[in-house]
Amino acid sequence: MAKAPDAGVGREVVLNSLRVVLQAGFQTASRFLATGLLTLLRVPPGERVVVDTDKAVHELVRHCGPVHVESRACVRDTVLGGRRIRRGQIVSCFLGAANRDASVFPEPDRLVWDRTPNRHPGFGRGPHACLGAHVAVEVARHVLGTVGRRFPQARPAAEPVPRPDVTEHGMYSLRVSF
Ligand code: HEM
Repeated sequence: MAKAPDAGVGREVVLNSLRVVLQAGFQTASRFLATGLLTLLRVPPGERVVVDTDKAVHELVRHCGPVHVESRACVRDTVLGGRRIRRGQIVSCFLGAANRDASVFPEPDRLVWDRTPNRHPGFGRGPHACLGAHVAVEVARHVLGTVGRRFPQARPAAEPVPRPDVTEHGMYSLRVSF
């Protein structure tokens, strides 16, 4: 913070960036642990795999990642999917829908734990893609991998209560019987 003025970065920019790291880092990662765990618990115990590889976590992010909508401001006039978009217009990208695009991901509703390639946009794309994707994958590998190894019979203990949020999926409650 003290060095920000020398670097030509305004105080508000630094504060906002810190807010984004905290908010983006906590909320998305914790919501993903809930949506990912629920998806796993819905697989019958005999058919479950232990989600302890990067590939398996990425497949879960594609299938039930928390972030469903991202927006971008168009910086110059362009044509996208046959539609003209003017400079300054906002484009909303529906990541959840893109992640189930059957022309890119064969059998998109199925969990294919070693899906290759798996270029899902669950962590965004380009210069503003998720800064914490590696942290998120590492955390999920440890948490979901440990649950899978130590509690192979885990199951939902009550009807889960989802958060009705269009842009970021998550749950108000997920009670689990280990
Ligand atoms: C499963 C967990 C996570 C998911 C699904 C996720 C997803 C995303 C997505 C979709 C974006 C927007 C990218 C774009 O606009 O193209 C983003 C941005 C970001 N994420 Fe994550 N994220 C997760 C975890 C984390 C964690 C753990 C951190 C920090 C430790 C983090 C830090 C950030 C930051 C700082 C940005 C903004 C990057 C920028 O605007 O330049 N995220 N994330």
